Amino acid sequence: MSNRVITDKDMDAEVLATYGAEAFLSREYLEAEKTLLWPKVWQMVERLEDFPDVGDWITYNVADESVIVVRVAEGDDASAFRAFHNVCPHRGRQLVSVPDGVHSVRGKKRKNFICGFHGWTFDTEGNNSYILDQQDWHGGLTPDMTCLSTVKLGIWNGYIYINMDPDCEPLKEFMGRAGEILDHFDLAKMRYKWRQWAIYPCNWKTAIEAFLEPYHVAGTHTQLLDYGDYYALSKQYGWHSVSSYDTRDDKFKMSESAGTTRAGKGDDARVSTYELIRENYETVNYSASTETLVKAASRLVDELPETATPAEIIAHWLKSAKADDAARGVIWPEVPPAIKQESGLAWGLFPNQNILHGETFALCYRVRPFGDDPNKCVFESYALERFPEGEVPQTEWVHADPTADNWGSVLAQDFSNMEFVQKGMKSSGFRGALPNPHQEQKVINLHRNLGRMMGGRGAPKALKD
Ligand code: FES
Ligand SMILES: [Fe+2]
Repeated sequence: MSNRVITDKDMDAEVLATYGAEAFLSREYLEAEKTLLWPKVWQMVERLEDFPDVGDWITYNVADESVIVVRVAEGDDASAFRAFHNVCPHRGRQLVSVPDGVHSVRGKKRKNFICGFHGWTFDTEGNNSYILDQQDWHGGLTPDMTCLSTVKLGIWNGYIYINMDPDCEPLKEFMGRAGEILDHFDLAKMRYKWRQWAIYPCNWKTAIEAFLEPYHVAGTHTQLLDYGDYYALSKQYGWHSVSSYDTRDDKFKMSESAGTTRAGKGDDARVSTYELIRENYETVNYSASTETLVKAASRLVDELPETATPAEIIAHWLKSAKADDAARGVIWPEVPPAIKQESGLAWGLFPNQNILHGETFALCYRVRPFGDDPNKCVFESYALERFPEGEVPQTEWVHADPTADNWGSVLAQDFSNMEFVQKGMKSSGFRGALPNPHQEQKVINLHRNLGRMMGGRGAPKALKD
């Protein structure tokens, strides 16, 4: 191994990289994340749709930090919300109690926050509005001493984000080109279809990395290989990165071949395209596509001749699914073909999110550390979909143990790796990771960016000078 830290340009050139297991295993590294990472990076709090009314509020909890987000006005821009550190300036009680092991604490109709210890009270702007016996401080308390500590807040694509660093770059800059590309899919118009969480026995990075690349499909989800190949490429976009289906076969190269809605393999792509999307949908807990897409694909054999090319099959399939959706009031966003191609299959959004997107759906993951244990994380997965007006399902975060019954058979296969990656990396015989520079760049990029935040610790190095 050389001592040269991998750069973004190295990654574009697919320079071979390696990194050690410290970031996954070390308690000291986890402690360092508490000061160097979580209080310094933009993080997704929750979807906007959970905050329809003024006074709706939530706590976002990560590592030792807890932040309160509250809606103070109508509208869907950042000015309608406030975010504060969840701590009383008097003697440091959490303003809202967040017991260990809860997903979040949330509620409605908040006009103020009253500390449970001595009753100091704060309005939803964070100003102190009541201090018992304030005269005892002899007039020495000023509003800036007694208000809540503010946190930066931004909105992107239907998500509320916060950053605890007062000097952080704007959210739009942080999202960069990745944000611009995903904007075309208008995730803001999607709504939760289901959302689940679990406390899982591995580091948060081990968990998110199990979902960053399709390179594992051939080894983990062998049943999926019947209908499609899972050869992939991946590419860094600064903080973020994308994976796309790649192909060794030119007849499958088209703007629609990079993501989920692509042609199946084999002699009759009318059949395999349907089987591919159906298998994905049914075994990934009814996500990563939609019922409309699956039904439209089921008609391909009737609607197209056997001689149809993969490109014709995809064009016909998407056109008819789009028409079916329009008939029930679900209008697809118009994504230019070049953007569709560039948008690929799924995005790793630094530090802890993954979004697999389509025009009318998204399958997403978020992970956070759990307690002070580097071997545990809070794992979340949720599906978004565009629904007709009046047909949006009511959902909430459901705690679900990591089983096939709860999460579908494909996620259960992923779960069956994560715990044992965490264990395996502890082996004294593990020499450091050898990520695939073409297919697993999202994983390398996560560590490259962690290295940037963590003072160089754990940064991937070039395998050779
Ligand atoms: S700690 Fe909050 S009022 Fe005393
Ligand atoms: Fe997987």
